[in-house]
Amino acid sequence: MNKIAILYGSSSGNTETVANRIKDMFDGKADVFDVGSVSIDEIKPYQYLILGASTTGIGDLQDDWDGFLPTFSSKMDFTDKTVAIFGLGDSASFSDSFAESIFILHDELKDKVKIVGEIADEGYTYDDSLAVEDEKWLGLALDEDNEYDETEERLTKWIEQLKEIFV
Ligand SMILES: Cc1cc2nc3c(=O)[nH]c(=O)nc-3n(C[C@H](O)[C@H](O)[C@H](O)COP(=O)(O)O)c2cc1C
Repeated sequence: MNKIAILYGSSSGNTETVANRIKDMFDGKADVFDVGSVSIDEIKPYQYLILGASTTGIGDLQDDWDGFLPTFSSKMDFTDKTVAIFGLGDSASFSDSFAESIFILHDELKDKVKIVGEIADEGYTYDDSLAVEDEKWLGLALDEDNEYDETEERLTKWIEQLKEIFV
């Protein structure tokens, strides 16, 4: 049994693609689940949970996550678990609510589980995001619409950071 579960919610496939890329970067030692169809029982055995969600509406959580988060938050036993969050957004068209899915997941779970994987707010171009506190992103923000050429390097740095923690 692998120790890492990657849970994603994706409307047009971008977050799903990144979730599978993250699995590859952990040399396949992670399992990937769509929150539109996963059950709490399936993810119970995993110690490390990587949560990925795109942002929709104006700073809203991706639809499948919106349905799953209340159950996940209330029914999951988070004892001894560690969570990391990544979020997809569009920093040009939604510059005032860029990747705020990260904030929504973080805000719901921060008092229940240890959350890791903050990164410095450097190299991003956007106007505002609730997912940035004290010049740090609460998780990894990615922009496949405008900054896809940055994704590989951003992911590599983040996964290196997580590998120090996910032992
Ligand atoms: C209706 C709609 C609303 C969106 N709202 C936001 C937003 O508020 N903030 C943001 O950063 N991106 C927003 N986006 C951009 C998506 O989050 C982005 O395209 C993402 O890569 C989609 O990932 P997915 O295919 O995994 O759902 C929006 C996209 C759509 C279609």
